[in-house]
Amino acid sequence: MGTGNGREKWATKIGLILAMAGNAIGLGNFLRFPVQAAENGGGAFMIPYLIALIFIGIPLMWVEWAMGRYGGSVLGHGTTPGIFYEMTGRKRWAKILGAIGLWIPMVVSIYYIYVESWTLGYAIKFAIGMVPKVKASAGSSQAEYLKPFKEFLNTYLGVNGNFFKPTFAYAVFLLTFAINYYILFRGVVRGIEAFAKKAMPLLYIMAVILLVRVFLLKTPNGDAVQGLGFLWTPDFEALKKPDVWIAAAGQVFFTLSLGFSAIVAYASYIDRDDDIVLSGLTTTSLNEFAEVILGGSIAIPAAVAFFGVAGTVSIAKSGAFNLGFVSLPAIFVNTPGGMFFGFLWFFLLFFAGLTSSIAITQPFITFLQDDFGFSRKKAVTFTMLLIFVVVQFVIFIPGVLDEMDFWAGTIGLVVFALIEIVIFFWIFGADRAWEEMNRGGVFGIPRFFYYITKYITPVFLGILLAVWGIQYIPKFIANFKWQVLLARGIMTALFALFAYMALKSNSKGEVHK
Ligand code: TRP
Ligand code: TRP
Repeated sequence: MGTGNGREKWATKIGLILAMAGNAIGLGNFLRFPVQAAENGGGAFMIPYLIALIFIGIPLMWVEWAMGRYGGSVLGHGTTPGIFYEMTGRKRWAKILGAIGLWIPMVVSIYYIYVESWTLGYAIKFAIGMVPKVKASAGSSQAEYLKPFKEFLNTYLGVNGNFFKPTFAYAVFLLTFAINYYILFRGVVRGIEAFAKKAMPLLYIMAVILLVRVFLLKTPNGDAVQGLGFLWTPDFEALKKPDVWIAAAGQVFFTLSLGFSAIVAYASYIDRDDDIVLSGLTTTSLNEFAEVILGGSIAIPAAVAFFGVAGTVSIAKSGAFNLGFVSLPAIFVNTPGGMFFGFLWFFLLFFAGLTSSIAITQPFITFLQDDFGFSRKKAVTFTMLLIFVVVQFVIFIPGVLDEMDFWAGTIGLVVFALIEIVIFFWIFGADRAWEEMNRGGVFGIPRFFYYITKYITPVFLGILLAVWGIQYIPKFIANFKWQVLLARGIMTALFALFAYMALKSNSKGEVHK
């Protein structure tokens, strides 16, 4: 037990890289990135973005790969309770900190699978042509025109629905849940890896087809090239605003799936001497291509082609979610072949979401297998049951999702990434950590990353945390609606459970009771 015997290993390098890319590429690439860029200086946004990529993104990427590989291949622990415990010289408090690395992905997985089901639901609605077919008329304003699509979304989400009425959306949620269950149940190689090898190439193909379609759009309001101009024209004044820098760092973090333990758990299935230097970089590049090139060339250019620059600004201000679920459907419905392209858009988002949701569900499964000796099937079933019970609150009680997204999905991951760096570089030791990162590398990591990872990344994370914390935490805490208190109660109970399990878990040298 806990010796690493019998751990699964990724069967192929390409499978590993595609699974890791699937982990990173998500809704954030296609919706969050373009909106962030448009709102924060356009082309100038790429300057803080690239700086954040070098000072936070890439170092943390290597840290998580290295911790995971070390955990899986040496310690027999693919998740942070066991990894932190060993890296701190067996301190029990480290298991509790490690439990955060189970809690974040679990809480996010609980609502992420539900959000992902909306993309599948919309894909199905487009495939069967059951979407509002409102033709744009010269006289109608943008707001009037978007209204039916807004209502369509509200109806879909059951804002006007009721608990006892079976809905299409709930059926699609069950289907999405079953698909996740099935892939995870088949295991790392036959499930996750096999799926990523098919889904990721298809995802890129779908994105390229959509990109070409968008580039052919032209209306009296504008065209896609104007959209690119709008997105990429640099506003260097924006660089004077700290918010823009924070937004860039947040986006890099988010898009690379850092601070979630999901990369750690995937990396725990790598062989001791396999390269992670190049693999980590390749994954990052695949994600950046999907983000900057593909993500930047679909949603915003389509919106500009249809609604013009001024219209798009107001859409972008209303949020990434409205852009994806309200404005884009409206655009597709009004263009030739719109049902097909609408389907393709949501199916793309569904695949992007699915390869991510399996990644955030895996850590808890890994934990049950490694630290409690569960069989894979038992671990998957236990995990999915837990998700299934808690997600009902997310589905039926409005407000729970946002509260979870804030604590686990926004603040939690920065806190956790900071803990990871401190334990790996400052307690386990910078020289050993550096050796782990470089071990088996096709080439060595340039030495200057040693200093970046040791000093700059944690400081950068600290600043990010302080600024986000000051900006959002007071606003978030001062909300005492019963729905919010319920969400906090659920999150606290989950953390207590995981911390308890982490303390009880089987670590080498201790007998599991
Ligand atoms: N990276 C994903 C995106 O760009 C979202 C995400 C953040 C995620 N953290 C994650 C996905 C952890 C899976 C696991 O949309
Ligand atoms: N709140 C984030 C935003 O502003 C969204 C988000 C953060 C998220 N973490 C997540 C979405 C994890 C899905 C999964 O866009």
